[in-house]
Amino acid sequence: MKVLGIETSCDETAAAVVENGKRLLSNVVRSSMDLHVAYGGVVPEIAARSHIESIMPVIDQALREAKCTWDDIDAIAVTYGAGLGGSLLVGVLTARTLAITKNKPLYACNHVEAHIYANFLTELGPHFQGPALKEYDLSTRQPQFPMLGLIVSGGHSQLVIWHDHFDYTLLGQTLDDAIGEAFDKVAKILGLPYPGGPSIGQKALEGDPLAYTFPKAKLRAKYDYSYSGVKTAVLRCAQKEIGEDHQFPSHKLADRLSDTQKANIAASFQHIAVETVVDKTILAVEEFSPRSVVIGGGVAASPELRRQLQNRLQSAIGYDPIAEGVLQYQDPKLMTDNGAMIATLGCFHMQKGQPAADPYTLDIQPNLSM
Ligand code: KG4
Ligand code: ZN
Repeated sequence: MKVLGIETSCDETAAAVVENGKRLLSNVVRSSMDLHVAYGGVVPEIAARSHIESIMPVIDQALREAKCTWDDIDAIAVTYGAGLGGSLLVGVLTARTLAITKNKPLYACNHVEAHIYANFLTELGPHFQGPALKEYDLSTRQPQFPMLGLIVSGGHSQLVIWHDHFDYTLLGQTLDDAIGEAFDKVAKILGLPYPGGPSIGQKALEGDPLAYTFPKAKLRAKYDYSYSGVKTAVLRCAQKEIGEDHQFPSHKLADRLSDTQKANIAASFQHIAVETVVDKTILAVEEFSPRSVVIGGGVAASPELRRQLQNRLQSAIGYDPIAEGVLQYQDPKLMTDNGAMIATLGCFHMQKGQPAADPYTLDIQPNLSM
């Protein structure tokens, strides 16, 4: 079974072909990030226009690289939420049109759920042999249920326990900013380039993670968390470091902070932001004893998150979670937005007999939640 996955929820126009929910045949991602960098964040109108230009060439390339014609494709899967309205619309309208004209079943995929499904990819198709084989370092084993999933992206921070495919419980989530959003905002304060996750990660390498003590929010619900407090604490800390009060504008801070101050703030913030989600993940591991722990979303590419999670999990369960296969880290390239995660989830929709969407009526759901 081969599924074409289409993803356009934010600034990446992406398409991929996946076979049987585990074999990656192609994965084409065209980002419009270059166009947004000057604005310090994604501009929805620019992203939507760029999707319109890129969507058909990206789909054609994904089919070509997978060595597939339309006859080989069994279904189309598309992100219908959550995401930016204009961006989602381009992917969904394209997928609907193709489903009708090529006569294929259409599966509507939840973007957040799909981030976790990137972890089910374990094999590379013929296109990735030869030198291209080195492009992906895939997991060797598919996750097992119960599966604990931590989704950490620019728009979402959620902890979910899956009892089986399509049978899951949302345990907790951020009450305000997503973790990636907090990284992006702190990067702005420090004058580091967008996106903030990788640039803070890089700067943090030169800093001391214990230089500053930033707060972790204490919330009543066991698995919920919040990032607004730590973000404000970073702002106040930066103002104090340069000897100004809370009225000093945040956009002028970067010029007055020294390189060492920036590195120490980046490292201390990253340390606490990551620890916040790792704390909750470990609590859930203790409560649910999952057979697999997986992460997904852009921030899941963070080496600091991977390091902390592995160490803490090892202390919690008493053995090496990676050697025992409880924790598997997928290739970081499959953590940020891509079509492969949508195609993989689409394969499971089809395999498990989930109802297909109506190609004449499928609508976008920008605020779709888990
Ligand atoms: O999943 P994603 O590509 O898009 C959303 O669905 O939001 O996530 C984007 C987020 C951004 O906030 C970016 O700063 C963060 O992921 N990110 C990273 C890394 N790469 C992207 N954060 C930490 N380390 C990275 N290497
Ligand atoms: Zn995403």
